[in-house]
Amino acid sequence: MRLFLDTANIGHIRHGVELGIISGVTTNPSLVSKEGKVNYQKLVKEICSIVPGPVSTEVLSQDAHGMIAEAREIAKWAGNIVVKIPANLEGVKATSVLCKENIKVNFTLCFSLNQALLGAAAGAAFISPFVGRLDDIGEDGMKVVVDIVQFLDYYQLPAQVIAASIRHTQHCIMAAKAGAHIATVPYKVLLQMIQHPLTDIGVKRFIQDWEKVMGDQKVIGSMKNNRLVGS
Ligand code: E4P
Repeated sequence: MRLFLDTANIGHIRHGVELGIISGVTTNPSLVSKEGKVNYQKLVKEICSIVPGPVSTEVLSQDAHGMIAEAREIAKWAGNIVVKIPANLEGVKATSVLCKENIKVNFTLCFSLNQALLGAAAGAAFISPFVGRLDDIGEDGMKVVVDIVQFLDYYQLPAQVIAASIRHTQHCIMAAKAGAHIATVPYKVLLQMIQHPLTDIGVKRFIQDWEKVMGDQKVIGSMKNNRLVGS
């Protein structure tokens, strides 16, 4: 399972990419708004220049005609742009047209297998079931991910599932077990994924044990002006 960051924050995206584990980004109008009143096009272009993979950004139009017009413009902003289109009837219509023009679509705000069926039929490259929002209303969000993964696999369809609306680290584990191709995670969750108290205790204990016997001897000698000066 690949990891995308679900954010429009440049600092967080840079950090994720530096870590070498983020291969894409998803944004939405709410996430962009969190960054203040920015120049949308400029921000998205900057994100696209940092990220070594697909960057999803959403249209605001409600009708297929408007979605298509917006998507065509957005698609020109960078080579790694993916346009997010909502999983409704107008979105299906827009997705069908855009996919024929080789514009990559992320079929977003997907809450059911039926919506995913239509997104895949329309040619969407990515389908994004929103796990957390389904959990919020008392449904089993991850079950929808499992069903969509199974359906795409059974019919050997090329669309990839992005487990979205990830709220905590258990969602990441469940998405991986469900066979989601991608999980798009908030920065906070990404940082939590690596945390384990036994790792911190273990590192500390290794250093203490070493120092008890070896004193201040280093593994590779000491560094001066960024150069190794002895061992
Ligand atoms: C995904 O593409 C969406 O941007 C995102 O996961 C929505 O998550 P939320 O339900 O936490 O807003």
